[in-house]
Amino acid sequence: MNVMTIPALLDVDQIRRDFPILKQAIRGKKLVFLDSAASAQKPRVVIEAMADAMETQYANVHRGLHWMSERTTEAYESARDAVSELMNANDRSEVVFVRNSTEAINLLAHSYGRGVLKRGQAVLISTMEHHSNIVPWQLLRDAHGIELRVAPITDAGELDMTAFESLLADGKVGLVAITHMSNVLGSITPAERIVRIAHAHGAKVMLDGSQAIVHRKVDVRALDCDFYCWTGHKYYGPTGIGVLWGKRDLLDRMPPFLGGGDMISSVTFEQSTWAAVPHKFEAGTPAILEGIGLKAAVGYIRAIGYDAVMAHESSLTEYALSRLAEMDGITVLGSAQERGGVISFVVDKAHAHDVATLLDRQGIAVRAGHHCAEPLMHRFNLESTARASFGIYTTRAEVDALVDGLVRVREFFQ
Ligand code: ALA
Repeated sequence: MNVMTIPALLDVDQIRRDFPILKQAIRGKKLVFLDSAASAQKPRVVIEAMADAMETQYANVHRGLHWMSERTTEAYESARDAVSELMNANDRSEVVFVRNSTEAINLLAHSYGRGVLKRGQAVLISTMEHHSNIVPWQLLRDAHGIELRVAPITDAGELDMTAFESLLADGKVGLVAITHMSNVLGSITPAERIVRIAHAHGAKVMLDGSQAIVHRKVDVRALDCDFYCWTGHKYYGPTGIGVLWGKRDLLDRMPPFLGGGDMISSVTFEQSTWAAVPHKFEAGTPAILEGIGLKAAVGYIRAIGYDAVMAHESSLTEYALSRLAEMDGITVLGSAQERGGVISFVVDKAHAHDVATLLDRQGIAVRAGHHCAEPLMHRFNLESTARASFGIYTTRAEVDALVDGLVRVREFFQ
C-alpha cells in the first residue's frame, strides 16, 4: 500500500469519540496513547454494557433458577456465541473462557501437556515468544519430561521456516506453540504454513493470538490450527477475560485444569465426574461482567470490520516506519514483510526507559523494557527497547507527535 494512502474505510475521528479516555490531557499535553499492545483502551459500548449489567441485570450464572440469574446466564453465554462467530468455530462449546492468554496457555500446558502428551515428546516454540508462551512449557518440561525446542528467527524477525521444519523432522514434536503476531517485532507468522507443516509431521498447533486477533480476521477453521488463545483487554474489552479455543475432540480428551464448582457433573467424597466442555475448564464463578464487556467489544470491532481495521493499521504502520527511517540514531527492530501495528526501536546513546520517560513528559505513552520477551531481546543483543503500538484510534498526527518527541529525546542525548 502507498504510504500516503489514507483509507477512507475507517473514520478515526468518529472512533476516537467512542473512547472517552482519549479526550484527556496528560501533563498538560494532549494524550498520545501508543501502548495498545500492552492493553487497549475501551470504547463506551464496553463500559456501558458492563455498567448496564451491574445496574439492571446481574446475578451469578449457571446456578440460579430465578429470573435475574437466567437473564445474566443468557447474557454471559451469548458472549460465547459472539466469540464463536468471530473465530468461525465449529461449535460454541469449543470456546473456553479463561482470565487471559497466559491462563489459556497454562491450561493447555497443564491439561494437554500432562494429560495427552507423553514423556519424551517435544513442544516447539519460537525465539519470539512472550514469556507466557515460554514459562508454562518450561514448567511442563521439568514436571513431565517433555523436551522444549525453540525455532530460530531471522534477522528480519521472521520465523526461520527451514529450521522450523527441520525441528519437526524426527516426529517427536507433539505440539507447536507459536505466536501469530510478535508483541515486540509486530511480525505476523505464516500461520497456515506453520499448521500445514506441523500437521504433516504429526504435531498439533496452538497459536497465541493475543496481538494478532486485534488487528486481523482470525478464522480457526480456515487456519486449521488446533488451539488459539487471546485476551479481552487487548481487544478493546475488559481485563480478566480471555479465550482458549480448541477443536472439540481435543478439548474432550483433555483432563480438567482447575477443580471446583461449575466444572463438575457430580461430586462425592470418593469421586467426581466432569461437566462437558467448555464448562469442564471453567471452575468457579466466571468473569460474568467481563464476558458481557467482551461481547460488546467483539460487536464493536465487527461493526467496524476487519478490512477497515487492517487497512488503517497497515497504512499507519508503513507511515510510522517511513518516518522513523528518516531519523538519525533510531533503529527499528526487525523488518518482517508482514507485520502489524507494533514497532520496537532503540535510540542511540539512550536507555529505553529514559526514552519512555522523556516521551511521557510530552504526553506520549510508549512501553519500554524487555516486553516480557527476554530471549527475543537477547537474540538481538539487547536488554530493552521502546515500543510504540497502534490501535484503531491511532492517528497519523500521533505518529508525527512520536517523531517530534523522539527528535527532542535525541537532542537530550546529543
Ligand atoms: N503482553 C503485553 C505487552 O506486550 C503486556 O505489552
